[in-house]
Amino acid sequence: MTLDSLQLLFFKNYDDAALRLSPGLNCFIGDNGSGKTNLLDAIHYLSLTKSAISSSDALCIKQGADFFVVKGVFSADLISGPETIQVSLRLGQKKTLTHNKQPYERMADHIGRYPAVLISPYDTDLIRQGSEDRRKYFDSLMAQLDHEFLELLISYNALLRQRNAVLKQGTERSTPHGFDRDYLLALDEQLAPIGQQLTTLREAFLAEYVPIFQRHYRQLADGRELVTLTYKSQLLGVDFAQLLRSNERRDFVLQRTTTGSHRDDFVFLMDEQPVKSHASQGQQKSFAIALKLAQFEMLAAKQQHKPLLLLDDIFDRLDDKRIARLLELVADETFGQVFLTDTNLERTDQALARVSIPILRFRVQDGTVAPV
Ligand SMILES: Nc1ncnc2c1ncn2[C@@H]1O[C@H](COP(=O)(O)OP(=O)(O)OP(=O)(O)O)[C@@H](O)[C@H]1O
Ligand SMILES: [Mg+2]
Repeated sequence: MTLDSLQLLFFKNYDDAALRLSPGLNCFIGDNGSGKTNLLDAIHYLSLTKSAISSSDALCIKQGADFFVVKGVFSADLISGPETIQVSLRLGQKKTLTHNKQPYERMADHIGRYPAVLISPYDTDLIRQGSEDRRKYFDSLMAQLDHEFLELLISYNALLRQRNAVLKQGTERSTPHGFDRDYLLALDEQLAPIGQQLTTLREAFLAEYVPIFQRHYRQLADGRELVTLTYKSQLLGVDFAQLLRSNERRDFVLQRTTTGSHRDDFVFLMDEQPVKSHASQGQQKSFAIALKLAQFEMLAAKQQHKPLLLLDDIFDRLDDKRIARLLELVADETFGQVFLTDTNLERTDQALARVSIPILRFRVQDGTVAPV
């Protein structure tokens, strides 16, 4: 699958931009603030119906305008012909998404059909921030790979919300037995097996994902450091129903469920030390890139299409050897269409000197983009 052309109207710092893309490697070159990341974000919209960066859709409308449109023409294969995906938002209205001019009923139906993986400077947040970011990241990836996991996760979260509401209600009535204990026990009976299944699925996912991740890191770092990723859960080898019972008193006092799958974490280690406190910035960036490359590989294996690979600012913080190995890797046939951003044309050309796939270079300047 390739994205053949992209058109933007009043999207972030663009008024009106249109570009024809290469099925190989597309490089967006321009100064800081010129609009390179915004182009990758527009592609992210076409794939995942939302921004990778902005917290709300409305923030993507160009300041002073009252709507934005992002349109992309994809070709999946020769038989089905080109497919046009358009996302648009008018201020104060609902976002619309169309496929060949037909609106989708549910945005969720689109997700996974035109997959994309973004590698960005924000990825190191996965290492530096709390467990919630890591859970969200792996949950989202697992949900794309396995529908059963998504359904279980939705049920788990709904039950957890109800359980926490019961605990809170009990405290508000300010008597220790003021809450509906029978209801709590009934919720726990449903919650326990689902939590246990989530643990099993997360373990099974990591058994597959970790070796791929380690291979990518080894290639990128030329075997200099040994990385591992382990699963941390209160539910491992423990009866969750029992765990809920023994913590009931504490949960009641704290008004929330203190044990369960929603407390799981993923531990990142480099040469047996925590990556967050021991790895350098370039090593952390390499770690995050390897996580994303493993994501790419698993999505590509599961789906019919290779995801689009969006590389934002990959030259930053990586040494020349790692950049060369990364580019050698992504310019291989394993990866499909690639988009990358950089501030320096000479550096990009130098780094791409040995890449054999077709390359198109674009100059990005104050919200305009044109082939070099
Ligand atoms: N809704 C909006 N309206 C107008 N301008 C916007 C909007 N959203 C973002 N911008 C502007 O777009 C500009 C370009 O942002 P972008 O992140 O694409 O730059 P970049 O080329 O990737 O720069 P860098 O090299 O620093 O990463 C920013 O200056 C930002 O203020
Ligand atoms: Mg940028």
